Amino acid sequence: MPIGVFDSGLGGLTILRALQKRLPEQAFTYLGDNANTPYGTRDAYDVFDLTTKSVQTLFDMGCELVILACNTASASALHRMQVSWLPKGEQRVLGVFVPMIENLTRRDWGDNAPPTHTGLENVAVFATRATVESGAFPREMKFRARDVEVVGQPCDGLVDAIEAGDMAKARQLVQGHVATLIKRLPKPQSAVLGCTHYPIVEHMFRRALPESTKLLSQPGIVADATADYLQRHERYAQAGETQYFTTGEVGKVGRLAELFLGHPVDWQKV
Ligand code: DGL
Repeated sequence: MPIGVFDSGLGGLTILRALQKRLPEQAFTYLGDNANTPYGTRDAYDVFDLTTKSVQTLFDMGCELVILACNTASASALHRMQVSWLPKGEQRVLGVFVPMIENLTRRDWGDNAPPTHTGLENVAVFATRATVESGAFPREMKFRARDVEVVGQPCDGLVDAIEAGDMAKARQLVQGHVATLIKRLPKPQSAVLGCTHYPIVEHMFRRALPESTKLLSQPGIVADATADYLQRHERYAQAGETQYFTTGEVGKVGRLAELFLGHPVDWQKV
């Protein structure tokens, strides 16, 4: 019973890498829907259909716990999946942005106490257009922290540039999107990279943002939250290897995946 890790493409590998580091014995099955990437320019219905199809594939492969290592799917499909799609039983799906918000607002997992003052005044969220337009990040934030201004910046084109391995284009896009954000929020106190592809270009965001801005890294936070979850739900923990699946072209995906993983792995087509 490996843990399933799903993303629209290669971005989820940044989360998988952190999970493997934090839980070296654990078995994982990664699935990237590279044939349909990017999700960030699709509407919520489309994201829901594609996400449920891939999560079902992971369930059929024997995964009982699936991590949506994709903010776009977590923001626009997860709630609907949990309310109306998830089969009754032991199968679970977890998203990636609530752990980040809990970290930002210094809350423990599952702490549903009323919103409090946290000292956090504003936060910039760099994400796909679908994630920003879902409004999920500010909504989840307001459940936990009062008086926090959340400014979302859609980073159009960035996922495509990263999936294509075009780092010069990615740099240009990061600089442009940060400049647009700074016009609306000149001194962000914190900034969140709310797309699992962006840790690959984190150094570009770091350079473009004011030095005083605290930049939050999602992979480590999600890995810690998952380790904590497994301690409380031992039935989902199992030792073993990682397997890599894609809906896309195995050769092309394998070459680009090295950029995310730092080493080659075997990919299988689903
Ligand atoms: N990496 C995903 C995310 O975290 C999806 C990007 C996309 O497919 O547009 O949002």
